[in-house]
Amino acid sequence: MCGIVGFTGTRAAAPVLLHGLERLEYRGYDSAGIAVLHDGKIQVEKVSGRIAKLCEKTKDGSNVPGSVGIGHTRWATHGAPTDQNAHPHVSNDGRFAVVHNGIIENYLELRKELIRDGYVFQSETDTETIVHLLELYYDGDVKAAVMKTAARLEGSYALGIVCTDEPDALFAVREASPLILGIGVGENYFASDVTALVSHTKNVIYLEDGEFARLMPDSVTVYDCTGRELQKKVSRVTWSVEAAEKGGYEHFMLKEIMEQPAAVKAALAPRIHDGRIKLDGFEITSEELKDVNKIVITACGSAYYAGCSGRYAIERLCRIPVQVELASELRYADPMVDDHTLVLVISQSGETADTIAALKECRARGAKVIGVVNVVGSTIAKLADHTLYTFAGPEIAVATTKGYTTQLAVLYLFALYISDKLGRIDAESYAALVKELQHLPRKIQQTIDMNWQLPNVASRYSSHSLFFIGRNTDYAVALEGALKMKEISYLHAESYAAGELKHGTIALIEENQPVIAVCCNEALMDKTLSNIVEVKARGAKVLALSFKGNKKIVSQADDVIFIPRAETVFSAALAVVPLQLLAYYAAKEKGCDIDKPKNLAKSVTVE
Ligand code: AGP
Repeated sequence: MCGIVGFTGTRAAAPVLLHGLERLEYRGYDSAGIAVLHDGKIQVEKVSGRIAKLCEKTKDGSNVPGSVGIGHTRWATHGAPTDQNAHPHVSNDGRFAVVHNGIIENYLELRKELIRDGYVFQSETDTETIVHLLELYYDGDVKAAVMKTAARLEGSYALGIVCTDEPDALFAVREASPLILGIGVGENYFASDVTALVSHTKNVIYLEDGEFARLMPDSVTVYDCTGRELQKKVSRVTWSVEAAEKGGYEHFMLKEIMEQPAAVKAALAPRIHDGRIKLDGFEITSEELKDVNKIVITACGSAYYAGCSGRYAIERLCRIPVQVELASELRYADPMVDDHTLVLVISQSGETADTIAALKECRARGAKVIGVVNVVGSTIAKLADHTLYTFAGPEIAVATTKGYTTQLAVLYLFALYISDKLGRIDAESYAALVKELQHLPRKIQQTIDMNWQLPNVASRYSSHSLFFIGRNTDYAVALEGALKMKEISYLHAESYAAGELKHGTIALIEENQPVIAVCCNEALMDKTLSNIVEVKARGAKVLALSFKGNKKIVSQADDVIFIPRAETVFSAALAVVPLQLLAYYAAKEKGCDIDKPKNLAKSVTVE
């Protein structure tokens, strides 16, 4: 995700801003910039690429005079990582500059309205609408313009604003995106997280959603959305910088597991308007779709397993045959792909070598390729005919979690969108499933809240090699659960289609063999229950994962993890969360290097 910083004081602002941005580098970004007020003007310096490039361009800030300014590291969502799209953005009249972390969901309609009113846009970003709204609403009162602007925005935003008419002031606005004020002596700050502040001050004010602040060198005033002044508590930060980077969590992986409700919401919310799904510029007519005789999904690792889950949703809702292929296999298989094939290429990084190669093989055979990618402007995003971004934000841990669940979210949206386009779903079912999708972020949070006891369970099921079993949608989740366990705890774990056990693998079941049974597919519940009975009869110790209220499972399994009820085709997005946590706590108990597992890279850019 993006990061924002701000400074107002008496010393030079630029070096303080650059240092703050360097502290935010861990969040991942692809461009950076600063804007500093001086002599009634705003000087903006911004670059695509690393902060080091910005330091070089500004001579560590020495050629950007002034003691009030804002800074930004951008993780591209709307518009590629270019100089023009980098923040800060400036109003046409040069009076305002803005930095933003979040997503403005109604930016398209705002952009149309502002262009119609004569405002000239310099970038493709959603953020730029904010700085033109400020100009539109400004009549000499900056605070009023900030309030009117915020009232027009839908979505998530942490904003930093400067105005030439208030040369000592910073404005900070928070809605659904973290923003913290740093209280200094003769100087004050804001930042997206405490890592950018702790070297200056440990006295902070945490803004809440709907609040905004006016910071001067010797005062900080916080208001609610009606402009009423609030008395806010000043907290004392006790975190080390390293802990702050992880948001207080011990590992990035745990932080990113906990970020999943917000990440999945970021993937879904901009694409659902008034109960209808719109896939940001992806248009395909029902005639073109009728010409599609199969869908091929190709990816590697967890992205492949996301495809395995997505396949069930697409086949069930669209009634189009779906083949899910490992990219490392597909690239050498002379694939049966042609211009009647729709290919979905899934990749968090967008840089996986095998997946890029598979994409090229499919394109060479005339297929239409859709990317499902997290990193904006990545190779796969550029090569695909159209890309549906997952908006997970930067994922630091090598083991993907929010990267995977946001891929599922996009695949579910895609399945429903295509099903509706083909007229294969009635209006009532469509509306119900869209609503179910909108409940997913809340249900993922409930899943996390329901499973605080997992550390104890993990220790009982992480003794030696594990079986993960399930059927249909549950089997796809079992595949991802086994991979999570293997890659961070180094315990051998295998996933099996539960119906397959009797065809050989049940021979491996012995006394105390841990078996994780995923039982979230209601239609197949009894079948999986019978598999649990089978393995228990041979001495297995079974940890079952099922919907809250499933009484049958309690009588059969040794331990049960519950998740909230959900539509079967969407259940993977919930069921995977306890499996992520199980792997995390198993690895923690073993003292493994959870964020950087041995032998693994975050993006496998070589064969
Ligand atoms: C998942 O936890 C692994 N880090 C790995 O399997 C990963 O999913 C795979 O390498 C694909 O990466 P991509 O999504 O960036 O293409």
